[in-house]
Amino acid sequence: MWRLYLLFLGFLLAGLNNVTPAETCGEGYGTSQGKCVDINECLEDNECGPNAYCSNTLGSYYCTCKPGFVSSIGQEKFNASYNVTCNDINECLDIKCGPNAYCNNTSGSYFCVCQSGFVASNREEKFKANQKVKCNELECNRLDSGSLSEQIPVALKQILIELKSTCMQKGVTGEEMLQILLEALESFLSKTPLTDTKIITALFEVVEKALPLVGQLLNQSSISQSLPHTRVEMLVQRRPTAPHGPFSLSSNDVQFNSHWETAVGNSYKGFASASLFQYQSLEIPHVRSSDNSDISSTKISADQFKLNSEVATIAVTNPNTMRLERPITLNFSHLQEAVRNITCVFWDSALEGGAWSTQGCSVVQSSTNYTICSCSHLSSFAVLMALYELENVFELQLITWFGLSLSLICLLICILTFWLVRSIQSTRTTIHLHLCISLFIADLIFLVGISQTENKVGCAVVAGLLHFFFLAVFCWMCLEGVQLFRMVVLVFNTTLSRAYLMAAGYGVPALIVIISASVNYRGYGTPRYCWLNLENNFIWSFFGPVCVIIVVNAVFFLITVSKLAQKFNSLNPDLNSLRKIKTFTITAIAQMCVLGTMWIFGCFQFDEGTLIMSYLFTILNSLQGVLVFIMHCLLSKQVRDEYIRFLTCVTTRQKRSYSEFSTNQSSKSQVSKSIQNTGESKI
Ligand SMILES: *[C@@H]1O[C@H](CO)[C@@H](O)[C@H](O)[C@H]1NC(C)=O
Ligand SMILES: *[C@@H]1O[C@H](CO)[C@@H](O)[C@H](O)[C@H]1NC(C)=O
Ligand SMILES: *[C@@H]1O[C@H](CO)[C@@H](O)[C@H](O)[C@H]1NC(C)=O
Ligand SMILES: *[C@@H]1O[C@H](CO)[C@@H](O)[C@H](O)[C@H]1NC(C)=O
Ligand SMILES: *[C@@H]1O[C@H](CO)[C@@H](O)[C@H](O)[C@H]1NC(C)=O
Ligand SMILES: *[C@@H]1O[C@H](CO)[C@@H](O)[C@H](O)[C@H]1NC(C)=O
Ligand SMILES: *[C@@H]1O[C@H](CO)[C@@H](O)[C@H](O)[C@H]1NC(C)=O
Ligand SMILES: *[C@@H]1O[C@H](CO)[C@@H](O)[C@H](O)[C@H]1NC(C)=O
Repeated sequence: MWRLYLLFLGFLLAGLNNVTPAETCGEGYGTSQGKCVDINECLEDNECGPNAYCSNTLGSYYCTCKPGFVSSIGQEKFNASYNVTCNDINECLDIKCGPNAYCNNTSGSYFCVCQSGFVASNREEKFKANQKVKCNELECNRLDSGSLSEQIPVALKQILIELKSTCMQKGVTGEEMLQILLEALESFLSKTPLTDTKIITALFEVVEKALPLVGQLLNQSSISQSLPHTRVEMLVQRRPTAPHGPFSLSSNDVQFNSHWETAVGNSYKGFASASLFQYQSLEIPHVRSSDNSDISSTKISADQFKLNSEVATIAVTNPNTMRLERPITLNFSHLQEAVRNITCVFWDSALEGGAWSTQGCSVVQSSTNYTICSCSHLSSFAVLMALYELENVFELQLITWFGLSLSLICLLICILTFWLVRSIQSTRTTIHLHLCISLFIADLIFLVGISQTENKVGCAVVAGLLHFFFLAVFCWMCLEGVQLFRMVVLVFNTTLSRAYLMAAGYGVPALIVIISASVNYRGYGTPRYCWLNLENNFIWSFFGPVCVIIVVNAVFFLITVSKLAQKFNSLNPDLNSLRKIKTFTITAIAQMCVLGTMWIFGCFQFDEGTLIMSYLFTILNSLQGVLVFIMHCLLSKQVRDEYIRFLTCVTTRQKRSYSEFSTNQSSKSQVSKSIQNTGESKI
C-alpha cells in the first residue's frame, strides 16, 4: 500500500514542477534536458541577412533593418523566411546639406562635405545636416598683393604670395597659416626699417587681411603665440547658434574688450573669430605730416606726438567694421609714464598713404600707466602722447633769451678784438674771427628765427642758414686743429692762404647745404622749429659732417699732443713757444668738447624733448659765446693787455677830453707792440 502512495506522491511532485513531456513542445520551442524551452533563432548566423538586426521573442523572433536601411517589403518587422532584404536608403535624396555642400550616401548612412574652396564652420571634414554647419567660402584671393597699396617692399609681397599658396592647399589649418605669417613678419620686421608710411600701411593691411582667414581655418578654439616682434591672441567660437556676450583678449601691453555680437556682425556664418595682434616695440618713426596746414582734419601730425604704447591690430570675422554699433575698448599700457596729453589713434591708410588719425577714437580713461581707448571701427591702434610741450616751459625760454643775448655780446667783443687788435693778427686769429662770426650769426638767427614757423619758405631759409652757420662753426674749429697741427709738425711756413681758409671754412658748409637742399629741400623747416626735419634721417646732413669733423679734429689733436710731448723732451726745447702752443691746444680741445657735447644734447632736444636734455642743450648753446670769449680773449695774456691798454686809453681820453697827443701816443705804442709781437704770434 505505501508503495502505491509513493508513486502517487511522485506524480504529484512531477505535476508541481510543470514538466511537460517533450512531445507537446510548440513551434519555436525545443527540449532541453527533457524540458520545453524557447529557441533563440537569432543565434543562427545571418538569420535575418546582412544590414538587419534579429530580435528573439518567446517562441518566435523577428528581423528589423539597421538604421539607414529599409526592408524590401516595406515592413518594419519581418521574418527571414520571407526572402526579404534590407536595402540602403539614399538619404541624400531627402536631406539638404545646405548651400555649397554636397551629400554622399554611404552604406547605411550619409555625410555632408563642403565643396572645394569652402570650409565647414565647425572645421570637421564631414558633417550631418542637423548640425547647422555652414560651408563658408575661403577667400584666399583676399591675399592678392594687387589689392595692397603700390610701392610696397618685395618682402611684404612675398609674404602675401606665400600665405595665399598655403591658403589654397587642401586641408590647411589656421595654425599653419599663422605660423607662416608670424615667421615671415618676424624676418621682415627685423630687416626692414619702417621709414615710409606706405610700408607701414602695407604691413598693417597684410595682417588685417590674413587674420580673418586664420580665424576661419583655426582648429583650436583659442591660440596665443609670442615672438620677439609680434604677439597674437585669438579666440574662435564654432557653435550652431551665434555666440553673444562680452569677451576679452589680452597680451602683455594691450587688452581688447568687445562683444561677440561685434565679432559676428549681421549674418552668422557658423563661427566667429576675434584677434588681437600686437607688434612689440614697433618703431614707427616721425611720420611725415601734411605740408598744407589742414589742421582742421583729425589727422595727427607726428611732429607733435610720440607713440606711447605698443601698436595693435584688431581683426574679427565681421567684415563690416567701419561703423560698429558697440564701440570696442582697448586698454593700452604706456611705454613711458604719461605726463602730457594722451590721444587714442588708429592708422588711417586713406590719409596720403597713411597717418595716425583720431577719427572715431576717444580716450575713455587715462592714468600715468595706462589709457583706455574706445573706437567705433576696427583697424590698427595705438596711443600717442603729446610732444614738445617743453616749448612752453618759461624758465627754458628765459635761459635761452638771457644766455643767447649774453653770448651774442661776448661774441661781438671777440669779433671786434680779433678784427681790430693788430698786435694779435695771425692765421689763428683769422680762424677765431670767422668762428666767432659764424657762431654770432648762427646764434642771432637761432634767437630770432627758430620759432618763425608761420611762413614755410622763410622757415626753410632760416633752417638752411642755421645749417650753414652751425656747420661753418665746426669747419672753422677743424681749421684751428689743422693750424695747431701745422704749427707743431710743419714748423716752417705756418701761415695759410686766406683763400684756402675761406674755401674750407665757408665753402664746405655751403657745399653740404646745397647738396642737402637739392636732395631734399622739404627737409628744411618743421611745423615746430625752423630746423632740419628729423624724418628720413635728414638730420644726418648736419650730424654726419659734424661727426666727421670731430673725428678728424680728434686725430689732429692726438698727433699734435704727441708731437708736442716729443718736442718738450727734445734736447733743446723752445719752451716759450711750446708752452704757448700747449695752451692753444688745450683751449682748442676744450672748445671742441663743449661744441660736441652741446650737440649731443641737441640731438635729444629736437627729437624726444626730455626736460633735462633741453636744459643742458640750452645752457651750453647759450653760453658758447661766453666760453669762446673766456678761452680766447680773457685767458690770453696778450689780449688782456690790449684790453687794459684800451680801457686806460678810454679813461685817460675822457679825462684829457680827447687830447690828440694821447691818441698818437697810444697808437704808436700799439704799433711798436704789434711789431714786437708779430714774430711771436706767427709761430
Ligand atoms: C513570422 O512567422 C511566424 C510563423 O513562422 C508567424 O507567426 C509570424 O507572424 C511571422 N511574422 C511576420 C512579421 O511575418
Ligand atoms: C527568394 O529569393 C530567391 C533568390 O532571389 C528566389 O529564387 C526565390 O524565388 C525567392 N522566394 C520567394 C518565396 O520569394
Ligand atoms: C563619397 O564618399 C566616398 C568615401 O568616403 C568617396 O570615395 C566618394 O568619392 C564620395 N563620393 C563623392 C561623389 O564625393
Ligand atoms: C547610394 O544610394 C544608391 C541609391 O539608393 C544605392 O544604390 C547605393 O548603393 C548607395 N551608395 C552607397 C555607397 O551606399
Ligand atoms: C584639430 O585638432 C584636433 C585635436 O587637437 C586633431 O585631432 C585634429 O586632427 C585637428 N584637425 C586638423 C584638420 O588638423
Ligand atoms: C588697464 O590695464 C592696466 C594694466 O594692465 C590695469 O592695471 C588696469 O586695471 C586696466 N584697466 C581696466 C579698466 O581694465
Ligand atoms: C591737454 O589737456 C588739458 C587738460 O587735461 C587741456 O586743457 C589741453 O587743452 C590739452 N591740450 C591739448 C593740446 O590737447
Ligand atoms: C605706474 O607704474 C610704476 C612702475 O611701473 C609704478 O611705480 C606706479 O605706482 C604706477 N602708477 C600707478 C598710478 O599705478
